[in-house]
Amino acid sequence: MDNLLTMQQFSEENIMEILNYAEYLKRHGIRELPGKYLVSNLFFEPSTRTKLSFEIAERKLGLEIIQFDPGHSSTTKGETLFDTVRTLEALGVNAVVIRHPEKEYYKQLEGIKIPVFNGGDGTGQHPSQSLLDLFTIKEEFGYFLGLNVVIAGDLSHSRVAASNAEALRKLGANVRFVCPDEWSGDYETNSCWDHVIEEADVVMLLRVQHERHDEQMSFTKEEYHAQYGLTEERASKLKKNAIIMHPAPINWGVEIAESLTTHPKLRVYEAVENGVYIRAAAMEMILRGGNVHAQAAPKYLA
Ligand code: CP
Repeated sequence: MDNLLTMQQFSEENIMEILNYAEYLKRHGIRELPGKYLVSNLFFEPSTRTKLSFEIAERKLGLEIIQFDPGHSSTTKGETLFDTVRTLEALGVNAVVIRHPEKEYYKQLEGIKIPVFNGGDGTGQHPSQSLLDLFTIKEEFGYFLGLNVVIAGDLSHSRVAASNAEALRKLGANVRFVCPDEWSGDYETNSCWDHVIEEADVVMLLRVQHERHDEQMSFTKEEYHAQYGLTEERASKLKKNAIIMHPAPINWGVEIAESLTTHPKLRVYEAVENGVYIRAAAMEMILRGGNVHAQAAPKYLA
């Protein structure tokens, strides 16, 4: 594992290794890596969770963060992404985290030798989000095989849906989708929640991504919520042990009813916390070429 680009790159075994190592770090603490590493976080799209949790993971790992502000960088003068990353590499930066609006932007980076951690590529993939979602599900249930997962919302614009659907199926979960026809993309979707909600172990709502829409929604926020959102009534039909997830930021009252902000089944902030351990685990495993602390505790590398 040299980079963290997509969930396609991982076998089931790779995924379990990262999840198990993140669990180890959560139990035993994230420790500073031996040696000195410089890392730069290049966020060409807004972010709160991904950017800050990578940064916190980097600080806990003892990495030195080289600040990069896209708005004050030479990309504003037309410098390409390749030239930007190649420049950082020449300056001695050892790894980069990149969020970029272009799907598969990393294909432009062929020839770059330092690890690239994908913090989201347009409507492509969001592998670190997927891993933290998987970690949160594993903490809750302990397994994936046979779990019923419903992913609901703006599927065709969602890199979280793409990453999670693929990874969850690889791990043996049953994944179903609820979505308006116009946002279903290549997914086989249900246009309503009937039967799906009662059987779900995990309900994962997706943000309506207005910034990626070419046209205005054909329904109001209220109509969307009533038909595709997690209403109070739908939440009341969930199984006793089911959980509610959302990668966030959340449009309350649209994807999830405002009255559910403190619902005991919500795992939104648990997932945010897990993001630090997942990102630390992935960074350590890649920067150290798999030579991680868990060698002292092999059971964590199942
Ligand atoms: N879930 C997620 O990617 O959030 P941010 O956009 O705040 O990073």
